[in-house]
Amino acid sequence: MKRILVTGGTGYIGSHACLELLLADYEVIAIDNLSNSSEESLKRVRNITNKDLIFHKVDLLDKQELNKVLSKYKVDAVIHFAGLKAVGESVELPLKYYFNNVVGTLNLCEAMIKNNVKTIVFSSSCTVYGVQEKMPLKEDCPLQPCNPYGRSKRDVEEILNDIYNMDTSWNIVLLRYFNPVGAHGSGQIGESPLGTPNNLLPYIAQVAVGKLPELHVFGDDYPTSDGTGVRDYIHVVDLSRGHIRALESKISGSGMHTYNLGTGKGCSVFEMISAFEKVSGKKINFQINDRRSGDSAICYADSQKAQKELGWAAEYDIEKMCEDAWHWQSCNPNGYE
Ligand code: NAD
Ligand code: UD1
Repeated sequence: MKRILVTGGTGYIGSHACLELLLADYEVIAIDNLSNSSEESLKRVRNITNKDLIFHKVDLLDKQELNKVLSKYKVDAVIHFAGLKAVGESVELPLKYYFNNVVGTLNLCEAMIKNNVKTIVFSSSCTVYGVQEKMPLKEDCPLQPCNPYGRSKRDVEEILNDIYNMDTSWNIVLLRYFNPVGAHGSGQIGESPLGTPNNLLPYIAQVAVGKLPELHVFGDDYPTSDGTGVRDYIHVVDLSRGHIRALESKISGSGMHTYNLGTGKGCSVFEMISAFEKVSGKKINFQINDRRSGDSAICYADSQKAQKELGWAAEYDIEKMCEDAWHWQSCNPNGYE
């Protein structure tokens, strides 16, 4: 049985990935500093799967503790989710983002080298592409991230590239996620943002459950079919399974690989509101506001490389994403609190 270290394991995507790893019979060691999550997520993962996993509260900035975990558990690979992800906050506190996301990853890589672990799957983001003219986005598009969060992701990608150039026996997979949404079908684990959500679907879900009065639609004058922004939303369960496919196809070899994980289909803000209203039976009140600074009109993936090389493709559509987000939100109006 392969043993995997999952950093950021209590977080939104990390907890769903831990669940899929357990279902695929991996042994899971999760670490997290709990700065943006709760251990409750993993208690629920244990309940859903009826399987156990190990959790340690560890900060990636604490080299000693990190090294202790890696030397105690002889892991075969690392899936590295831990990081800060709020774009607006990264503009206000860039050093916090570079320390946490870049220095945290340097510490992780150093501990991996010490303990002879050479396989890592890294959570990158479509944000590394920045605003681009041509869609769909392919992995070889030039990278032009336009905020400190995005640049911290691009920097980590480059650091991992340099590690591979130093030692080609490493096995590195960079996964660039498009817009992860939804929740596990059980309704027991999902996204539990602190404070008011920044992202569209959790905001809509909180309007539906009555926690927020109305959605602010950021612009209806984009050059898109209905004037609202278009994104490539991907169900978090599909996304998590992409990590398992990456591990299964790459764990025994070596190489440096980059894949987009998206559906390849765009969905507008109005389309998302309609789908949510349909599955929840709730009216989503909204008002049109100005465009949000830094937003692009359209962004969607070309995910053919992941399909060809990993045998992975997203299965779930927008309705299933809304249905599962709504199930989670209505069963847990206050998230894990
Ligand atoms: P999340 O905040 O729910 O999970 C990240 C976890 O990392 C949190 O549990 C947090 O407590 C932990 N963490 C942060 N800094 C840490 C540190 N120094 N040491 C230990 N733990 C630390 O976010 P998520 O949505 O699950 O995102 C997971 C990863 O995927 C992140 O790296 C994020 O940048 C990336 N990503 C997310 C999205 C998205 O929209 N959710 C899109 C693209 C990429
Ligand atoms: C966000 C991140 C981006 C990350 C991406 C994928 C920000 C500013 N950007 O962008 O770095 O790579 O997720 O996870 O957080 N919208 C509204 N009202 C809202 C919220 C959003 O109209 O209250 C619109 C946006 O203008 C956009 C769409 O909904 O057109 C999706 O927004 P969001 O969920 O924030 O995702 P991204 O903009 O893609």
